[in-house]
Amino acid sequence: MTDDAATVPAGIDTTVPHPARIYDFFLGGKDNFASDRQAAEAAIAGFPDAPLVARQNRDFMRRAAAAMVKEGIRQFIDLGSGLPTNDNLHQITQRTAPDSRVVYIDNDPIVLAHGSALLADNKTTTVVTADLRDPQGVFDACEAAGIDFEQPVGLLMIAVLHFVPGDVSGLMHTYRSRLATGSWLALSHVTADGMDPERAEQAAGTYARTPSGLHYRTPEEIQALFGDSHLLEPGVVATRLWRPEAVEGLPQIGDNSRPTYPMVLAGVSRFDAA
Ligand SMILES: C[S@@+](CC[C@H](N)C(=O)[O-])C[C@H]1O[C@@H](n2cnc3c(N)ncnc32)[C@H](O)[C@@H]1O
Repeated sequence: MTDDAATVPAGIDTTVPHPARIYDFFLGGKDNFASDRQAAEAAIAGFPDAPLVARQNRDFMRRAAAAMVKEGIRQFIDLGSGLPTNDNLHQITQRTAPDSRVVYIDNDPIVLAHGSALLADNKTTTVVTADLRDPQGVFDACEAAGIDFEQPVGLLMIAVLHFVPGDVSGLMHTYRSRLATGSWLALSHVTADGMDPERAEQAAGTYARTPSGLHYRTPEEIQALFGDSHLLEPGVVATRLWRPEAVEGLPQIGDNSRPTYPMVLAGVSRFDAA
């Protein structure tokens, strides 16, 4: 995308790189500006695996979503959804279950700008600009979009919480508490586990100019995000290792055969009756 003011959606400062657009660049998308490309290229120069990390993460999201649909989930909230790319959550879910309702939430207004155009004819998919640190705002927007919190929901927090610094345990408790029995939570999060500390700091540094920065959590801290919901097999593992078996009709975009650093850990849980 050019940085020409005429083509830049309102509310976007193109001089500041943003995680949504850096990630879009990693995935080969075109919805990014010079500052995003610079940050992404700096990341790739230090960490050539960065695009693969993004692809493996995306593949995990798709397998997790397919698992939820298979188990009957028909309402989805994707927090920190990112820019729409091919085979987004609504396509995966509505292909199998056309009545699936999907709400995409992201704090980068570019997601709404692009999503609204793409989804103009889709009556069961909504894009909202909101910050996940405001759970009540998120719940209100979801209800306005037709989400019924009395029924099971698939909540996705994929590669987003590492953009939220500090203690997120209270925030996670608020989200988990709102979900009905039978709901699912899919989450992925970057960790510096297994990395040389200097290299880990260098990797995080590539996000230094973004509004929130990048914040690692340990495997234990990531597992704790699921609270007492029932963590499904195989537990919290590298994205590429979460139920890696091919799913019919679900193309994979990453080479999931080898590990990457920094590693993104992923897990999926279910909210069973107490
Ligand atoms: C790395 S992208 C992940 C996109 C998608 N979930 C995926 O995994 O393919 C992270 C996304 O989270 C969004 N984000 C970061 N902080 C957020 C916040 N506090 N509230 C809502 N969205 C946020 C960014 O704008 C970006 O689109």
